[in-house]
Amino acid sequence: MCGIVGYVGSRPVAPVLVEGLHRLEYRGYDSAGVAVQKRGRIAVTKVAGRVRDLRDRVESPGTATTGIGHTRWATHGEPTDRNAHPHLDASGRIAVVHNGIIENAEQLRARLSGEGVEFASDTDTEVLAHLIAAVDGPLEDAVRAALAQVEGTYGLVVMDRARAGELVVARNGSPIVLGVGDGEMFVASDVAAIVHHTQSVVFLDDGEVATVKAGEYRTSTLDARSTTRTPTTVDLESGSYGLDGHPDFMRKEMAEQPEAVRRALRGRLDARFATAHLGGLDLDPMALRAVRRVKFLGCGSAYYAGQIGAGMVESLARIPADAEPASEFRYRNPVVDPDALYVAVSQSGETLDTLAAVQELRRKGGRVMGAVNVVGSAIARECGSGVFLHAGPEISVASTKAVTTMGVSFAMLALLLGRVRDLSSAAGTRIVGGLQALPDRIEAALELDAQVAEVAQRYAKSQHMFFLGRVSGWPVAREGAQKLKEVSYVHAEAYQSAELKHGPIALIDADMPSVVIVPNDDLVAKNLITMEQVKARGGPVIAVTAVDLPASAADVVIRVPDGEPELDPLVLGIPLQLLAYHTAAALGRDIDKPRNLAKSVTVE
Ligand code: F6R
Repeated sequence: MCGIVGYVGSRPVAPVLVEGLHRLEYRGYDSAGVAVQKRGRIAVTKVAGRVRDLRDRVESPGTATTGIGHTRWATHGEPTDRNAHPHLDASGRIAVVHNGIIENAEQLRARLSGEGVEFASDTDTEVLAHLIAAVDGPLEDAVRAALAQVEGTYGLVVMDRARAGELVVARNGSPIVLGVGDGEMFVASDVAAIVHHTQSVVFLDDGEVATVKAGEYRTSTLDARSTTRTPTTVDLESGSYGLDGHPDFMRKEMAEQPEAVRRALRGRLDARFATAHLGGLDLDPMALRAVRRVKFLGCGSAYYAGQIGAGMVESLARIPADAEPASEFRYRNPVVDPDALYVAVSQSGETLDTLAAVQELRRKGGRVMGAVNVVGSAIARECGSGVFLHAGPEISVASTKAVTTMGVSFAMLALLLGRVRDLSSAAGTRIVGGLQALPDRIEAALELDAQVAEVAQRYAKSQHMFFLGRVSGWPVAREGAQKLKEVSYVHAEAYQSAELKHGPIALIDADMPSVVIVPNDDLVAKNLITMEQVKARGGPVIAVTAVDLPASAADVVIRVPDGEPELDPLVLGIPLQLLAYHTAAALGRDIDKPRNLAKSVTVE
């Protein structure tokens, strides 16, 4: 949430910053700004709106070669020009960009106001600029002294007009990565902003500070003990950060799913012993056998993916499993079961609620593994063990390929847990085969595009939609409703099919389409009853099904390709992604940047 960039080197800095912000815009897109060092002063350009609006305002490349930039998702203060970052202290000496929340900003503001400081914005960030400016001495020391007064989360970059060619960065709860170039250095909240310049990167830890100059950097802790951070190389094999000819990232990432699933499976299936190998899990067969239950924790789509995973664990391993929103878990003083395996699910590895749930679990002695896409992310590091999703970079705010690879990873986990218990080798072989066939199955499901686009056109004007499913179809319905809501702004509600008659059926009429999810399980006949109940009240029915249905069963039947039924939830989700996408397109929405949202929710 919020994207930050910085650069020190010999190139004109403004285009580097604007380009970096453009690549980070998925992290927040309320407002954007840059500050550059210009002949002993700091020049700031900032604007409420998109990076493209900023680009129009930033004049010619200029001669400045040191600067910082920010793209914002508003927390404190409306998205206006004055609240856009960077923020300056009163004398214009110190400039700050910040991602995170300063929780004691109000107290600090009151104190500083009492000391005569006049504020130029409503943000929490501005207090940092004033606090830093108030301390004499080297910039790094001033930043440390300021941060000692602050409670909250931050990834921040600070620039001092008196210290040409130097930036100070600090991290606590919001990511910061340094890019090491040849005689130049980059700073960003995500490698996406810098990977086209350098693949040699340094991930800072929470509680770390770094001073960055052209071609060099020095890291230390908040209490000034120096640390050693050697650069690692970012893996570019797993996908590109560009559109590669696609109209938007959501479309690109949906299309990448077969390949993403192949990557997620690579080297992990064992046909001989009919099981999976998850090397990062760090649990031997005895420890796997000792797991008495599994709980998946995540937020939003990651939570729904966890619910799909819980269903798979129960059905293949026959141990109790469930999923819970990490945001609830962290605050309800959970009973932590020492015999349970907790799975923290996150694409970004940054989601604050999920990270906090992991920390709460670890404090209480729980055993937690990560299912994370971004290597080096906070949740991956906090968990220490787990599975990487290998989905490749996901830029679209609406998650697609990451959700699918989450499901794939959970299928492998379920298989592994099953095979150390009562899942027969024949059943294991069947699941291994089903997983091997999954990329092609997903490819074939993506070919439903034209049919789904037509359905989307037909129903795009609906004000509301139901998404109905039972048992393994239920989390698929939830994820489908979520996808539609977030990218098209059509109100969608997911309901367990059988619960419909206990109240919500009152809403069914000709203007309320229902999307009914029909996996190939024992409940097909029950799902047909649901469809009948909806039709009897004049409601349009769109069936998304893994079995053949009579044509009369629904107004539209979207049939996904056959495969192993346990994996149906992973394939049934594909037409729902397409439905959300095409509905949003039909309504002219900004598909990759839905209003009010941002990727990586690093605030409460
Ligand atoms: C929906 C979506 C969000 C995320 C949620 C968790 O398309 O992307 O609901 O799933 O914010 O994010 P991660 O997986 O990064 O923890």
